[in-house]
Amino acid sequence: MDKLPAHITIIMDGNGRWAKQRGMERLFGHRAGTDSVRECCEYAAQIGVRYLSLFAFSEENWNRPESEVNGLMQLMAKAVVNEKPTFQKNNIRFRVIGDLTRLEPSLREEIAQAELETAQNTGLTLIVFLSYSGKWDLLQAATRYGAMCMQAAGQGQEQPSLTPELWANLLATAGIPDPDLMIRTSGEQRISNFLLWQCAYTEFYFTDVLWPDFRKGDLAKAILDFQTRKRRFGLTGEQIIEK
Ligand code: IPE
Ligand code: IPE
Ligand code: MG
Repeated sequence: MDKLPAHITIIMDGNGRWAKQRGMERLFGHRAGTDSVRECCEYAAQIGVRYLSLFAFSEENWNRPESEVNGLMQLMAKAVVNEKPTFQKNNIRFRVIGDLTRLEPSLREEIAQAELETAQNTGLTLIVFLSYSGKWDLLQAATRYGAMCMQAAGQGQEQPSLTPELWANLLATAGIPDPDLMIRTSGEQRISNFLLWQCAYTEFYFTDVLWPDFRKGDLAKAILDFQTRKRRFGLTGEQIIEK
């Protein structure tokens, strides 16, 4: 328990294949995936994980067939409302990160409401990445930095020096520690334009389990695997032992 990852992030993949294996449409898999989300959140909250973040919908996913996109958005809206008791029961703080300007105003309102209602919770912070991509995040940070420089110039001041700390604060994940562990389900071994800057020193864990089958036992297995890793951050093994 002393080597518990503070921030676990999951690329929840394989819903479509899970449904196909059962002769069902893709949305059936997405629906089943929400049960995995609930179980993993409750488990992470109960064992004392500080941050659990979930890649739910990427910028590229907007290019899927309209019926699937609409179905996913409806599922999201339903989950945001229906899961509020789960959040309160487990002292979970709920947040959504991504380019929310592309969402229906009604969904944006439900999200804002759930964020507000859970803002005082002090246990696990659950972050859902929705309409998110790593490149989008880097570009919006660069745009913000540009605006800061313009403002400084307008006031006759020097431009703020660009440090890793300042940059991290310009990202959509400002204030959230970088992930210690990233899990990707369904056998794919790629980052798919997810957290790019933030994963500089993240440990990766890949499993063939499809997301709707991924339950607390699978999450526990990933955490146990993480606990056997030796994170060196560029140092030698000997230096790490001395620390
Ligand atoms: C992950 O499952 C969910 C989303 C990307 C929204 P997929 O829908 O990508 O499932 P596969 O990869 O087609 O099996
Ligand atoms: C990545 O899954 C995005 C999410 C899990 C939300 P995809 O299924 O869209 O990724 P690719 O296209 O196979 O890389
Ligand atoms: Mg996929």
